Amino acid sequence: MRFLSSLDVRIRGATDGESRWLRILLVGFAFVITVAHGQVRYSIPEEMNKGSVVGNIVQDLGLDVKRLKSGRARIFTEDSREYISLNVDKGTLIVRERIDREELCAQVSPCSLHFQIILDNPVELHRVDVEILDINDHAPAFDRKEISFEIQELIASGSRFSLDSAHDPDVGVNTLQRYTLNPSDHFTLKELSRNDGRKYVEMVLKTSLDRENQEEHNLLLTAFDGGNPQKSGTVKITVTVLDVNDNSPVFSQPIYRVSLYENILKDSLVVTVSATDKDKGSNGEVTYSFSQSNEKETVETFNIDSDTGDIKLKGVLDFERYKQYELNVEAVDEGGQTDTSKVLVDIIDVNDNSPIINLISFSNTIPEDSLPDTLVAMLNIKDIDSGKNGQMKCSVNSDLPFRIKATSSNFYSLVTDRILDREMFSEYNITITATDEGSPSLSTNKTLRLKISDVNDNAPVFQRHSYTAYVMENNSPGVSIFSVTATDRDSANNARISYFLEKYSIKT
Ligand SMILES: *[C@@H]1O[C@H](CO)[C@@H](O)[C@H](O)[C@H]1NC(C)=O
Repeated sequence: MRFLSSLDVRIRGATDGESRWLRILLVGFAFVITVAHGQVRYSIPEEMNKGSVVGNIVQDLGLDVKRLKSGRARIFTEDSREYISLNVDKGTLIVRERIDREELCAQVSPCSLHFQIILDNPVELHRVDVEILDINDHAPAFDRKEISFEIQELIASGSRFSLDSAHDPDVGVNTLQRYTLNPSDHFTLKELSRNDGRKYVEMVLKTSLDRENQEEHNLLLTAFDGGNPQKSGTVKITVTVLDVNDNSPVFSQPIYRVSLYENILKDSLVVTVSATDKDKGSNGEVTYSFSQSNEKETVETFNIDSDTGDIKLKGVLDFERYKQYELNVEAVDEGGQTDTSKVLVDIIDVNDNSPIINLISFSNTIPEDSLPDTLVAMLNIKDIDSGKNGQMKCSVNSDLPFRIKATSSNFYSLVTDRILDREMFSEYNITITATDEGSPSLSTNKTLRLKISDVNDNAPVFQRHSYTAYVMENNSPGVSIFSVTATDRDSANNARISYFLEKYSIKT
């Protein structure tokens, strides 16, 4: 005879107080062995301490401790590892070894341990399922500590950069839920999903980058899970902005002004121009040159050092030729971006020119009876220096009977100052001196040799007022009695003397 009975019993779970189904199936054969089958399910969180009670099987399977002992109750697992052991004395299942849900099941959920409790005499098999519940024992984590990007400035906003994904071996809400990226002034996060439902993120450029403004951006990508308490993991993101030649050189001044004495030496430094370029490396390297627009004379007078911007004197300055130079300078960076500036060089006059005396007219000879103010010579005096350096005074030796009269600008006349007397001075060496007012002053001399011509203004003069002579009587006619001499201070014909007997009387 065959006896078959099946019994489902609803009992209360030992560990968490939840309702559990216990199904006891009794299969009996009248003449064969009777095997009792029971099944019990427990749920425990992972990571419980060793020795923690999983469940009371005596209660839950309707057995008693004596039966456990007599039946030599033991656990049979199909795989060798025994996480849970049976306390036969108390009829409880206890944690034998730390249970790590992630190690046991990885991403499989729910995660359960299955084993049998076997009793002998009579043989009983009881299936036990222990569901291992996930606890939030893992934080999301990134493989790398730091991610670096090198991004060229000026790239279009909307450009995307893929980021590392975080991993969280927990399951359900305890696993990775979302990401954040901070700060968010230049980049935003875009969350995407793979076919398997896992999330990954991209970093999207929101506003364009400017290396000159900020060369490095440091961001923090944080991955959060949904556990309680919530756990998170971070990775540092470093964005290095690469330079693009987006800046022109800029001169430090739109106009450089310099004043130079005209006598400065060749190779003297005139001025140093400088331009800066905010770009980096070769994009920011500036070279200097004179613009093509410069006058030929300018380029011949100055040179510019293309590296340093030093402008030096190459030629000779002459205020009298050029009073000002205008140099157009150019700064160029490697990318060909330019800026221009101007250097104004004012030349300061140095008293380097003496006055020049030109004789316009000159009478080599004037008669001695010339009246005062008689014109002797006309002079033109000039000095090509400017200002005081070009202003001058003109004079003549003060001991001579001549003076200088200014007629109109730069024209002077040399005139007699007094009555002349050839018989006293028949010629004069007149030195005219022109002196400028520079400091130190420069002067020029010119000597005119003037002859005074004779006028018959002197009468002959006898050496004596009267002469007395004695002659013998009966003298021969024609024999000299005595001679007289007169002199005349005039010259030439004016000094030739004729003698006449004007009047004579006879004394007896
Ligand atoms: C004027 O200068 C000339 C030449 O230097 C000289 O021979 C002459 O004697 C000088 N005359 C006077 C009056 O000094």
